[in-house]
Amino acid sequence: MVQRTLAIIKPDSVEKKVIGEIIKRIEEAGFKILAMKYTKLTEEQAKSFYEIHKDKPFYNDLVKYMTSGPIVPIALEKENAVEEFRTLIGSTDPTKAEEGTIRKLFGTNIERNAIHGSDSPENGEKEVLFFFSKSEIVYNY
Ligand code: CMP
Repeated sequence: MVQRTLAIIKPDSVEKKVIGEIIKRIEEAGFKILAMKYTKLTEEQAKSFYEIHKDKPFYNDLVKYMTSGPIVPIALEKENAVEEFRTLIGSTDPTKAEEGTIRKLFGTNIERNAIHGSDSPENGEKEVLFFFSKSEIVYNY
């Protein structure tokens, strides 16, 4: 089934100047880019995006980190996109991620882990619409 997933190239990757390296790998893996932007989250936006984690001990630090610099959210589409993207990026903790995955290559630690990927098709749809309005999504290629 064709699914959507949201990628976020996180502040640590922007700082390391690996936006291009990461997008290259996403394109080579066959994902279709529907929308993309270079932006910075407000505290309110970061809190809302990560609301599901609000009771976790790492929530405040996560919000601080995700608002510490620019990010690149990317709406992606592919057959089985959610699972395939999670395989491409690797485990949440870069030190435990498979060789060759984006988090293994570019992540630093479990918080500064280079990139986000939606964890279910439902969240993929929801997260894409968190960053992009329907009119910003491009289908025709
Ligand atoms: P992400 O895929 O964006 O989803 C939630 C984020 O919280 C995760 O990537 C990490 O950046 C962060 N995170 C998850 N688990 C931990 C943890 N145990 N300690 C610190 N940060 C975490």
